[in-house]
Order: sequence, then structure tokens, then C-alpha cells
Amino acid sequence: MTTTLTLRRPDDWHLHLRDGAMLRGVVAHSARDFARAIIMPNLVPPVVTGDDAAAYRARIAASLPQGADFTPLMTLYLTEGTDADDVARAHAAGIVRAVKLYPAGATTNSASGVRDFARVQGVLERMADIGLPLLVHGEVTDPDIDIFDRESVFIDRVLAPLRARVPGLRVVMEHVTTREAVDYVRGGGPDLAATITTHHLIINRNAILAGGIRPHYYCLPVAKRETHRLALVEAATSGDPAFFLGTDSAPHADAAKLSPCGCAGIFSAPVTMPCLAHVFEDAGALDRLEAFACLNGPAFYRLPPNDTTITLEKGDPWAPPAMIETGAGPVTVLDPGFPLRWRVTS
Ligand code: DOR
Ligand code: ZN
Repeated sequence: MTTTLTLRRPDDWHLHLRDGAMLRGVVAHSARDFARAIIMPNLVPPVVTGDDAAAYRARIAASLPQGADFTPLMTLYLTEGTDADDVARAHAAGIVRAVKLYPAGATTNSASGVRDFARVQGVLERMADIGLPLLVHGEVTDPDIDIFDRESVFIDRVLAPLRARVPGLRVVMEHVTTREAVDYVRGGGPDLAATITTHHLIINRNAILAGGIRPHYYCLPVAKRETHRLALVEAATSGDPAFFLGTDSAPHADAAKLSPCGCAGIFSAPVTMPCLAHVFEDAGALDRLEAFACLNGPAFYRLPPNDTTITLEKGDPWAPPAMIETGAGPVTVLDPGFPLRWRVTS
């Protein structure tokens, strides 16, 4: 029986760190286990220019604990006004690693997102030229489409046509939640990949609604049926390089979650690695955790894997903190619903 697991240090290819007091409260929880993270740009106001990204990167660096070994990889928020030259300059200067597409209205702070894709065609073509990945929040926003179908409809109506209009564009479908998305990414060739979150590997939609409304399991894209969760576990544990970890750890103060219109987002950074070890062990795939969390992401982003390591040990069940305190209020930590036996020891 495996009881110790040493991996290259993992990276988180989809992370929300927020800003100000929340940033200062949460960043250490990612920096402890992860070497690098792709930082989402959906601040208020969003991170839209290279200068915005450089300034945000500096605020993150200033919020890190002394001696932390953590590199934030910055992204820009694509708007209909995004300037292709600014994007190319920020990329050439090593400031940004990707551009994020939020369809307007799809999720938290997405009001500045894209409504008319014709207006971003030039930016997307430039990104294809320079090899800069587009990270896609893959949900249609049409209120006539059932919320559980918004991802699969997005593939047919938006993503497939967009990729056909911009050949060579490198795309990451973020936080996939459906079997349809897994199948689409599997057949998509080397320019297409997907991140999978911690929580979508663990919960299905029952977690949100069975026995009462449980806002701490509400996120976007919303968790789907069990058959879809199983497809995600299969993809993550398969070793297929098209799939890698993006936690989508998305802290909101509990007051904003526990409201008549609670925010979408699950804060998983403190427990992701123990949760993943549990999921991969259950699937008989502990030997593929390193591919998913540490190797496939850097390969897609054309970066070397980390040369430092992380060690997890399996022992008696332990209880992670139910919440952390931040200057922006308490934030509840993902409760995976099973006892955690793995923990990060070094
Ligand atoms: O659950 C989510 N929370 N999904 C998103 O797409 C955004 C994120 C957030 O920023 O809170
Ligand atoms: Zn996100």
C-alpha cells in the first residue's frame, strides 16, 4: 500500500486570488502547495491591459509570505475593446501567459466580457500568431438555455465556430464539467486542452440541493450529474496530456455566499492536494496524479515542470479547517464530504 507520495511541485492552472484584504488572506494557501498559478483577471475593475496585469502581479508578490516560492502567471480579461498590440507587448515582455474569455454575464464579474465575437477576431488572430492561449469560460448566457446545458451548448454554438474562424488558436476550455466537453477536448488535437477543478472531481449536483440548499457547493459552471463527474475523473486520471489541474479555487466571504443571491465559487486551495490524492487513489491511478497536477499543464503552456518536490503522506484521518479568517471576512473551505487521509507533509 502506498503511504508516501513525492511529486514534482504542482501548479494550479486556474486560480482566483482576488485583491486587497482577500488576496492577503488567501494567497498563502496556494503558495504553500503550488509553485505557479494562472491568475484569473476578473477583478472589479477587470485586468484588461498589460499595465493592469503588471500592477496586479506586484500586488500579489507583495502579499506573499516571506520566503514563499510561488510565481503568479498573469492573464488578461478579453473585452471588445482589447488592443491586440497591447496583448502582444505584454506577452513579449513575459507579463501575461494567457487571455481569458468570459462571455458577458456568464459568471462573477463578467459584465465586461464579450458579446459580439466579431469585435475580438483581430485579437484572437494575433494570439494565434504568437501562440498565446485563450482560456475559455465555456457557458452560453442565453436565459432560454437550461443552466445544466450551458456548457454543451457553448461547444456547438460558440467554441467550435470560434476555433474554425481562428485556425491555430491555442485554447484551454476551463473547468470542464460534462462528458460532452471531455469528448470534445479528447478529439481536439494539440491546440486544445482543458482544466478540471478539484470540486468537480468530487461533487455532483446533488451536493448543492439534496437535503437543503448548500451554497458552499455552488459554483459555475454548476456541478452536473454523476455520469459527468465520472467522465471527469476518467479524463483526469487517464494521463491524457490534454487534461490538467485548474482548481478554480474562488474565495468569497461567507456573507456573500450565504445570501438570497449567493455568489458562485468554491474555495479549495487549502485542501486540493489531499483531495486529489484521495480521488486518484480511489480510481487506482495514484501514479497518474503527477501527470495531471504537475506535468501536463507546463507542457501545454510550454514551460518546464518544477524541479522542486512536494510530499504527501497517508495516515489517520485529519480535519482541515472548516474556514479561514481573512481581512475580508471568514471564507469556508471546500468540505469534500469524505475523511481526508492524505496530507501534505513537505
Ligand atoms: O464558481 C465560479 N467562481 N466560477 C467562475 O467562473 C468564477 C468564479 C469567481 O470568480 O467567483
Ligand atoms: Zn474561475
